Amino acid sequence: MNREPGVDSFILSSLIDAVLLVSPDGCILQGNFAAEEMFRQSQEVFRGQPLLDFFPDQPEVEAKLRETCSRGVSFRDVECLGQRRNEPVLFPAGLTISPFMGENQNLAGAVLHVRDRSLVQELEETSRQIDQISRLGVLSLGMAHEIKNPLVAISGSAQLLRSRLEDPEHREYLDVVIKEVGRINRMMARMLSLAEQNPLDLKPLNIHRILEEILVLEKDAAGEKFHFIQSYDPSLPQVSGDEDQLKQVFLNLIRNAREAMPDGGTIELITRYRSDYSVKTRDNPNPHQDIVVEIADEGAGIPPEHLKTLFVPFQTTKAKGSGLGLPISLKIVEHHHGSIKIISREGSGTRVQVFLPVTRSGA
Ligand SMILES: Nc1ncnc2c1ncn2[C@@H]1O[C@H](COP(=O)(O)OP(=O)(O)O)[C@@H](O)[C@H]1O
Ligand SMILES: [Mg+2]
Repeated sequence: MNREPGVDSFILSSLIDAVLLVSPDGCILQGNFAAEEMFRQSQEVFRGQPLLDFFPDQPEVEAKLRETCSRGVSFRDVECLGQRRNEPVLFPAGLTISPFMGENQNLAGAVLHVRDRSLVQELEETSRQIDQISRLGVLSLGMAHEIKNPLVAISGSAQLLRSRLEDPEHREYLDVVIKEVGRINRMMARMLSLAEQNPLDLKPLNIHRILEEILVLEKDAAGEKFHFIQSYDPSLPQVSGDEDQLKQVFLNLIRNAREAMPDGGTIELITRYRSDYSVKTRDNPNPHQDIVVEIADEGAGIPPEHLKTLFVPFQTTKAKGSGLGLPISLKIVEHHHGSIKIISREGSGTRVQVFLPVTRSGA
């Protein structure tokens, strides 16, 4: 085939998936531009490094690579976890491993094609959660309406009866009835708010002002044993959002952080640009990015099996919890075309990341 000189290298540098050339002893010989981006390493640094440093503790990848280099076998869609520089959590990736034929068609190592699956996996996860919430929405809407009417009757009758009772002990019993009915009522209101889609009153918002206003209230409620750190990027642009609804989200998340630290501690609020997933190219090194608001606590963290069901309504580990804070927050953020990610390790605290799109000028 007749090809223009250098066209192969253009193809490689234009690909958005990483391609790595690996020597028979498993060391990286070369990678394309996307590989530098994906692993956050420059060519100079990863050249000569063992491939398995980027896919740590995965004997399956090691075995397949060895097979390819020794017998020329190819493997497609190998699921594995990749390691980016300075990132403790590994990212999901799909690998294709093919034999690399050098001069004279001799087997001279392997070519790896690496696809970053983090975004796909996250979208799958979010749509599963949204599905659960909307299914529950239909159910709870029907239930809440059925329950509300008798509750109004119970509460009205109890109050009437209470005003006619003389015996203070009997009044106390009725006080319990009235208080508990009030609790069910509030719970119903929250269920309805989960099911309803409140229209967004969108305005360009300064996210730092919103956080500041919440913190004034929260600092007051939290008392001395909590310490708040604000690490804000002052260059962040405005977001288009519904002020009241976004305040509810951040309030829910800060309350969760507080409740995760019963003896007090530090809660850090961080704002920054979203750095992952944006595709940088040589011509456009600073593409449009969303912003991230992070709420980080030093609480007990969340066990891995619980992480999967955090956004399922009514899942709570607290005696007086509703289990609705996170599902409602996710619903509001999704409505803003954003998303929420929770990173947590048992014993070392929790980091909740809220991603929001910035207001694009001219969009
Ligand atoms: N910052 C956090 N640290 C530890 N666990 C958390 C945190 N945020 C949420 N959780 C867990 O997720 C559950 C659900 O949270 P949420 O939906 O706000 O409901 P609730 O706070 O009423 O329990 C909590 O009960 C708790 O187990
Ligand atoms: Mg909560």
